[in-house]
Amino acid sequence: MNKIDETIGFLINKYNFEQKIGMILGSGLDIFNDFILFSIDYKEIPNMPLSTVPGHKGRLDVVKVESNSVIIMRGRYHLYEGYSSKDVVFPIEVLKGLGVDILVITNASGGINETYVPGDIMLIKDHINLTGENPLIGGPNFVDMKNAYSYRLRQQFKEIGKNIGIELKEGIYVGVKGPTYETPAEIRFFRTIGGDAVGMSTVLEVIKARSLGIEVVGISSITNVHKDEFSSVTHEEVLEMGKRISRNLEILLREWIKRGI
Ligand code: HPA
Repeated sequence: MNKIDETIGFLINKYNFEQKIGMILGSGLDIFNDFILFSIDYKEIPNMPLSTVPGHKGRLDVVKVESNSVIIMRGRYHLYEGYSSKDVVFPIEVLKGLGVDILVITNASGGINETYVPGDIMLIKDHINLTGENPLIGGPNFVDMKNAYSYRLRQQFKEIGKNIGIELKEGIYVGVKGPTYETPAEIRFFRTIGGDAVGMSTVLEVIKARSLGIEVVGISSITNVHKDEFSSVTHEEVLEMGKRISRNLEILLREWIKRGI
């Protein structure tokens, strides 16, 4: 049996998954902690790599949200931890195997766009993959990346944001490998090529999800903004701002699910 079949077999023996919506929560984003229907630590799931970054729980939950339920991956794998691109996208394969066909991918990112402020929420419109990696090496090849961040779902979020008074930016996410934060020259470069925010996750996951036919919505919490040569950033600051953004993010996602997708 291959790895993914073994993992899915193990999980569906434990719980009757029938959720269509999956979510991946990024650094410091801690939401939907009530009404947990099922919960399992990554370390108990066969073949799941272990997450090594503070601020990531490493747990799969099924959570009741309004009249729906959602599979939440609390914690992800990053290239900068030393994982391969195949490891990084393993949770996406798991979600697909459990029946997910709509995936909300969240992350913490640094603002590049000069109009952004820490605490903003940005819908990802498109990405630029500067990690130098691609999880599809070896196949499937030539997956179409137009509309990778579903236009349909972005419209839904924009409408809900307007209705409930949560302002949403919309922009281009630049995905890098990390683990260092960016130099001022890199930030100027990312701005020049059209980036609005930069982060160390998401792009490989989205590529994998699209190859599996999953519809994706990407949401960045802008935890810090790169303004000038002296705007420094720390991981603690990223986690702290992530926590503050979590409240609005949960309200937004709850409304979206309530409205019916
Ligand atoms: N750069 C890269 N990744 C990040 C940042 C940043 O400024 N903030 C949060 N994640």
